[in-house]
Amino acid sequence: MEIYINQEHQTFHLQNNAISYIMMVLPDGSLGHLYYGTRLHEHPNWRHLLETCNRPMSSNPLASRPDFSLEHVLQEYPSSHVTDYREAAFHAINEDGGDAISFKYVGYRVEEGKVKIDGLPATYVEKSDEAKTLTIIVEDPLTHLKAELYYTIFADAPIMTRSVKFINEGKTTLHLRKVMSMCLDFPDHDFTWMQFSGSWARERHPYERSLEIGVTAIGSLRGHSSHQQNPFVILKRRETTESNGEAYAFSFVYSGNFLALAEVDNYETLRLTMGIHPEHFDWCLEPSQSFSTPEVVMAYTTKGLNDLSGSLHHLYRTRLVRGYWRDRVRPILLNSWEACYFDVTEDKVLAMAKKAKACGVELFVIDDGYFKNRHNDYAGLGDWEVDEEKFPHGFNYLTTRLKEMGLMTGLWIEPEMVNKESELYRTHPDYILQEQGRESAVGRHQYVLDFTRKEVVDTIYTKLEKLLSSGDFSYVKWDMNRSISEAHSLNLPASHQGEVFHRYILGVYDLYERLIQRFPHMLFESCASGGARFDAGMLYYAPQAWTSDDTDAIERLKIQYGTSYGYPLVSMGSHVSAVPNHQLMRTTPLKTRAHVAYFGTFGYELDPRELSVQDIAEMKKQTTFMKKYRKIIQMGTFYRLKSPFTSNEAAWMVVSDDQQEAIVGYYRILSEVNAPYRRVKLMGLNPDLQYRIDENEISYYGDELMSRGLITTDETSSGDGNSRGDYTSYLYILRAIK
Ligand code: DGJ
Repeated sequence: MEIYINQEHQTFHLQNNAISYIMMVLPDGSLGHLYYGTRLHEHPNWRHLLETCNRPMSSNPLASRPDFSLEHVLQEYPSSHVTDYREAAFHAINEDGGDAISFKYVGYRVEEGKVKIDGLPATYVEKSDEAKTLTIIVEDPLTHLKAELYYTIFADAPIMTRSVKFINEGKTTLHLRKVMSMCLDFPDHDFTWMQFSGSWARERHPYERSLEIGVTAIGSLRGHSSHQQNPFVILKRRETTESNGEAYAFSFVYSGNFLALAEVDNYETLRLTMGIHPEHFDWCLEPSQSFSTPEVVMAYTTKGLNDLSGSLHHLYRTRLVRGYWRDRVRPILLNSWEACYFDVTEDKVLAMAKKAKACGVELFVIDDGYFKNRHNDYAGLGDWEVDEEKFPHGFNYLTTRLKEMGLMTGLWIEPEMVNKESELYRTHPDYILQEQGRESAVGRHQYVLDFTRKEVVDTIYTKLEKLLSSGDFSYVKWDMNRSISEAHSLNLPASHQGEVFHRYILGVYDLYERLIQRFPHMLFESCASGGARFDAGMLYYAPQAWTSDDTDAIERLKIQYGTSYGYPLVSMGSHVSAVPNHQLMRTTPLKTRAHVAYFGTFGYELDPRELSVQDIAEMKKQTTFMKKYRKIIQMGTFYRLKSPFTSNEAAWMVVSDDQQEAIVGYYRILSEVNAPYRRVKLMGLNPDLQYRIDENEISYYGDELMSRGLITTDETSSGDGNSRGDYTSYLYILRAIK
């Protein structure tokens, strides 16, 4: 890893074994982009990469250079309408309304390691030689608005991160209206854009479109990253597959409103920007104040999408997730929600826990419904005191009993919300986001607390600290069940109301941080009506996230497959639930449900008292299996093999770091009569090692399994051509012969 600075030619080259990123100072003093992609040798002078030409109708910042217009060069952090008419990276307004603010190069710094971003989640290093950071300092000569553009390159990964800090070094108040965390100009637009979209119970399905002239964008204005769009996009070459070809990933380490936008201009160059959504955003920056944007992680590959995902998985698992649980396999849990809904009681918990423990479960999670007045979703949020009618002996007693059984205990919370039917709302009706005199909209009968206010976050912290100290808890599921409306704080002056959405998320992060500091061994799982806040920002605080409220195994194939493009298996909450499934009424075999849920954190969302003797026996086998293999599953390398979006089959696999073991999950959705032969080409094996599958006598070289494929025909249809039924699945355990 190296950062080359050529002072004479004012060029900058960040390079590691896999990638190069090259920039230069342009003739007008702004910062230009030259190249991002596969590693290049350092060149004594990169300026030949700057292409300029005299184009009709262009405006020129320098009267002496009619061939130079910002509209026609690649840039790093462009402003709006200062001869560039494409989407800007930022937009700032001076006191007199002037907004031709644009940045000129001032200087640079190079540091070992990575610069921390105050109050925001970000990837990190443990040793300073893991990364290097180039900070380029730019300034607007009139207003003295300064920006520090941070570029971190990791030593051993094809990964860079970007973020920006604005500093008002002038004498007047400025308004930041748009502050994208990154802008990246490409010299061509020959890309397919991939986004991960959906809705409640249908999160992160991959969608693709080719980029044509004009704008392609996704974003969220809901106050959380959302079910609808995920703050993660991929740009891949048209020929790129899972196992081959060039692709770039852009992942936003943030949990609030976001925008990811690609613009292809009429000269077929492409600009990609990613950051906080500029709509509803207006940050008032007084003299000497600064504003930091969240981070964007950029990954690059020439080896296909599995490789791209693998780089992100590894980084997020090891250098985004923090704390006690980072390097630990996750406990097998049983969550009370689908078993009890709001009717959860001490008796039920103890009875279910006893059965669950006997089946090998390690953690019992008490979901919604345990606190005062919480008989349905109309009341109770905000008070956070245990309902003594449901739990007459309190949580100290209950968690002690569970501990005696050998179980850890977890608890559900929804800290950001309040019901009007609560003590908190009765005493502090001003604590919700609202506009004076206007009725606030309601969602799931609840209102959003004004987390821009320190006293509100303090109040919730005090209540939760007490609640979580009232028993021996090891796990917290932090839920968020509505989108934000009326994003207005009674506490802020009019000129600061455009800060509410961002300040809200800063309040959420602050509460997380304080609870993590107070309970450093607690395993947090984030949740937002399932997967509405499954983003890299949350992973910094909560090492795992509830992937979706849809627990149907077949739907989960799609949801987990889509989620895996950007996020590691160990972050995906995945449970076996009862049949008929509560969301779809579909009945799938217990085995298939587990075969899907294994590829995640694994747990159950059912009442073990209702299982048959056979199912109990099966559940015991499942927990035994997961305990044996979860290290490979959660810490190994994951590969998507067959997409459930394009065929009747799905397949994926994990391989241990030493390539000695692998587990393949193969799923056939609907049964087929007299079907063709089926096979799956595996990935990530050592081509020169021989693997034995499921203790069978025959062994196969890794090269055969990857090039000819693993035959799956006999596992899903019987020899006489008759189907074995819908929703069948098979797990193959591969072991290298010593
Ligand atoms: C939504 C979550 O996604 C569910 O798992 C459950 O915790 C409910 N909220 C509880 O209200």
